[in-house]
Amino acid sequence: MTTATYQRRSDVAVLLLDNPPVNGLGDTVRKGLFEGITRAVADPAVRAVVLAGRGRGFSGGADVRQFNTPAANAEPMLHQVIAAIEESAKPVIAAIHGMALGGGLELALGCHYRVVTADATLGLPEVNLGLVPGGGGTQRLPRLIGVAAALDLIQHARTVNGAKAVALGLADAAFDGDPVDGGVEFARTVLDAPSHPVIGRRAPAAAEVDFAAARAAVSPRARNADAQRGAIDCVEHATELPLTDGLDRERAVFERLVGEPTSKALRHLFFAERKAAKAPGPGNRPVKSVAVIGAGTMGGGIAMAFANAGYPVTVFEREQAPLDRGLALIRRNYEITANKGKLSQDEITQRLARIKPTLEMPDVADADLVIEAVFEEMPIKKAVFQQLDAVCKPGAILATNTSRLDIDEIAAATSRPQDVIGLHFFSPANVMRLLEVVRGARTADEVIDTSMRIATDIGKIPVLVKVCEGFVGNRMLTGYWREAWFLLEEGASPQQIDRAMKDFGMAMGPLTMSDLVGLDINWAARKRLAPTRPKHLRYSAVPDRICEQGRFGQKTNAGFYRYEPGDRTPIPDPAVEEIIEQCAREAGIERREISTEEIVDRCVLALINEGARIVEEGIVQRASDVDVVYVQGYGFPAWRGGPMHHARTTGLDITLAKIKALHAAHGEFWTPAPLLERAVAEGRTSL
Ligand code: NAI
Repeated sequence: MTTATYQRRSDVAVLLLDNPPVNGLGDTVRKGLFEGITRAVADPAVRAVVLAGRGRGFSGGADVRQFNTPAANAEPMLHQVIAAIEESAKPVIAAIHGMALGGGLELALGCHYRVVTADATLGLPEVNLGLVPGGGGTQRLPRLIGVAAALDLIQHARTVNGAKAVALGLADAAFDGDPVDGGVEFARTVLDAPSHPVIGRRAPAAAEVDFAAARAAVSPRARNADAQRGAIDCVEHATELPLTDGLDRERAVFERLVGEPTSKALRHLFFAERKAAKAPGPGNRPVKSVAVIGAGTMGGGIAMAFANAGYPVTVFEREQAPLDRGLALIRRNYEITANKGKLSQDEITQRLARIKPTLEMPDVADADLVIEAVFEEMPIKKAVFQQLDAVCKPGAILATNTSRLDIDEIAAATSRPQDVIGLHFFSPANVMRLLEVVRGARTADEVIDTSMRIATDIGKIPVLVKVCEGFVGNRMLTGYWREAWFLLEEGASPQQIDRAMKDFGMAMGPLTMSDLVGLDINWAARKRLAPTRPKHLRYSAVPDRICEQGRFGQKTNAGFYRYEPGDRTPIPDPAVEEIIEQCAREAGIERREISTEEIVDRCVLALINEGARIVEEGIVQRASDVDVVYVQGYGFPAWRGGPMHHARTTGLDITLAKIKALHAAHGEFWTPAPLLERAVAEGRTSL
């Protein structure tokens, strides 16, 4: 079976890629293309060949479903297909609509001509997966559009639309409508040309770029720094070497990167995000309008997220003043985006026009989806949901943005718990892509499916989770912060802990992070949970004492650090050191020298052990969901693939041994997760 079909339009052969959803270049597609080219070349009645894609686009590149399977390396390989095209004396035209990405664009670069629709997306985004293009892209693109433009696209995984592709010389012409018609029409214009351009036969490109400077400018903190440098090397080779040698070097760089832990981690996340975002079922309630209850930090961001995606949003507040404040903040955020040149004034006006403020609850009656983002207090949330139950139309989805409260209890305040769900956005909600979709015990499947789809529609990465204290992300944070506080008492300084975790790769250290999100929120949660806290367990009073002094983090210019007004730079504060020493004395702890390794181990292993419990309890559907949450929502380094992937890279046996050692030294908090113990006992390498 092949998934590229051969047709004839009088004297033009048409090879149609047909491998939904994105015409990935799997083994059967490559075979179909190779056989089709061979047949067209041999057929005297054929004078030109058009390659086009069926469905959504030309081709999205490698068939990701075949990654790590023998089919990925089955012959003919992509470079052999491209070689067959380049050897053809008959012109081959790539007619691109939708997208030509990665291997899809490399295939098109093997063709003599490329024609595009103006809105098609073209690019070589391999560095996003910690790789370089492996099908000749780094050698042919510079020869076609020049080194500077090619390097810009490849190193930064930048895509261009069809119109820009024509301007860059990446495409020869634009067409409207059906790609086969567009390709065949163009073919007729070149049939009688004496020869046809073959990029692969061109001399090396002119070296118009300072490659050493480009390499030096790569941020060492970039998740794919190695791949970026690899891309620069490859493009440099395209200026020095004949094509075949350049292709060999590109292949070598690709092979090296593909085996690196960084690329494995980034590819793991790529799949993890796609798996996580899949709606579990086919249910779909129409959602055409949205309402947000509460115009505070989160409500404003959520309203923007929907308005940005084209949804009309009604924003309800209890009083005029907070409503005005909320709307003013939304306006200011849009202005900032405009000032950065990311949005035109027209676009801002359109987006703002979609947001309708109101003080009248009945104004949300027609919304298909209502998201509550009022104060984090159960009685207030329940009262809001009772009101919503009274006014909202039947079938409306009633969502809460609560970070920690029990969704089932909120749902029980309504007469329609099947319509209630948690949509836990992260701050700033218009920017952060993670969304924990929290299913209650009685949430209807259809409501879950619809919520997952809507999330994807507004550009979020949803992860479906069940109700538990803190859901996935904040629940794991509890142990992570606990260890940071214990380490403070045992002898580490806030800056030492933050430096260690930042060097590990976290976007910021745990204490800087708690200053940013506000210490008061967790203080309230600790007070709420105090009655259920087992009294025999160690408890650090450090964060409570800091809060008792009115130090709530950046918003009060003081927390674990102090801050100059209007400046977010954390400054070490002797007053905090004093609190820590006092707490250590009271707890009878002898302070000691703490190593960086101990800091990293204790903070990261706390995440892993709790993550394993979350997997075991079925709070998530799979271990990789935990990775998505932590990388997208909590600044865990993507190049380490998330905490669960990191445990696998380290070795589950080594991870467990370290946890057991901590258990022996520090007791109950470190009881190894049973799932981890079982996995190691069974000799498994992942959870
Ligand atoms: P906020 O204090 O900034 O905003 C809450 C808003 O709700 C205020 O404008 C208030 O006037 C309004 N409000 C209170 N009672 C109301 C009522 N009965 N009807 C209508 N409006 C009412 O709080 P924030 O930070 O936006 O948090 C809101 C919710 O989002 C909380 O449940 C919180 O736990 C959750 N959340 C917060 C995150 C954060 O980083 N701030 C992250 C994720 C979730």
